[in-house]
Amino acid sequence: MRKNIVAGNWKMNTTLDEGVELANNVNTLLKEKKANCEVIVCVPFTHLTSVNAVIEPELVKLGAENCSEHAKGAYTGEVSASMVKSTGAQYVILGHSERRQYFGENNEQLLAKTKLALENGLLPIFCVGEVLEERENGSYNDVVRGQVEALFSLTPEEFGKIVIAYEPVWAIGTGKTATSDQAEDMHAHIRKVIAEKYGQEVADNSSILYGGSCKPSNAKELFAKPNVDGGLIGGASLKAEDFMGIIEAFG
Ligand code: 13P
Repeated sequence: MRKNIVAGNWKMNTTLDEGVELANNVNTLLKEKKANCEVIVCVPFTHLTSVNAVIEPELVKLGAENCSEHAKGAYTGEVSASMVKSTGAQYVILGHSERRQYFGENNEQLLAKTKLALENGLLPIFCVGEVLEERENGSYNDVVRGQVEALFSLTPEEFGKIVIAYEPVWAIGTGKTATSDQAEDMHAHIRKVIAEKYGQEVADNSSILYGGSCKPSNAKELFAKPNVDGGLIGGASLKAEDFMGIIEAFG
């Protein structure tokens, strides 16, 4: 079902103690002022169990930042979807541009990860987005279409469980936000691509988040757009007050 979501992506930040403190602070703020959206913190693997112990599930949901494309076995250093699920996490970010860019993750691997996540009862937050060159040469709609279509062997029921996050790579960590109109145009495009394959109902029920230098000062304008259902927040999710400021964009 389509819902408004604000999800933090802590990336490779915070020690365990710092992460637990941050999660605790987010939880406390949400106890004082209830959110008008679903709130998720996506944290490093090492922090999942400890963060799960300090958040209240009705206030804050838990997610990982990645999982393996393999179910189990001799893959030293990897963490499987079932391991993530066993910590109490409900979500997993997949296909973040940093994974695509620095770790060479491709569509085939991302489909395998998505299937394993779903099989293990995790809800994927699947990231798509163009790089600056693609924005400038005008191919961005096709690029993002291709990234979404990589999941089109999923059944409508499976696809219906996926949260899409549009994160223009040129806006990530750069302080340069897509304008609310650029975000709205792309989100509408993504919804159309989904509707073409799965029908309008699945498309209308999909939550599509915006990510890329989203902060308290611009969240309200972005989230006011009809096809923007919330945000995936990097830097500003590392300070509980800033993260809360973004959550409050939903009132
Ligand atoms: P920033 O909010 O730091 O730009 O990061 C966005 C992002 O990559 C979230 O996944």
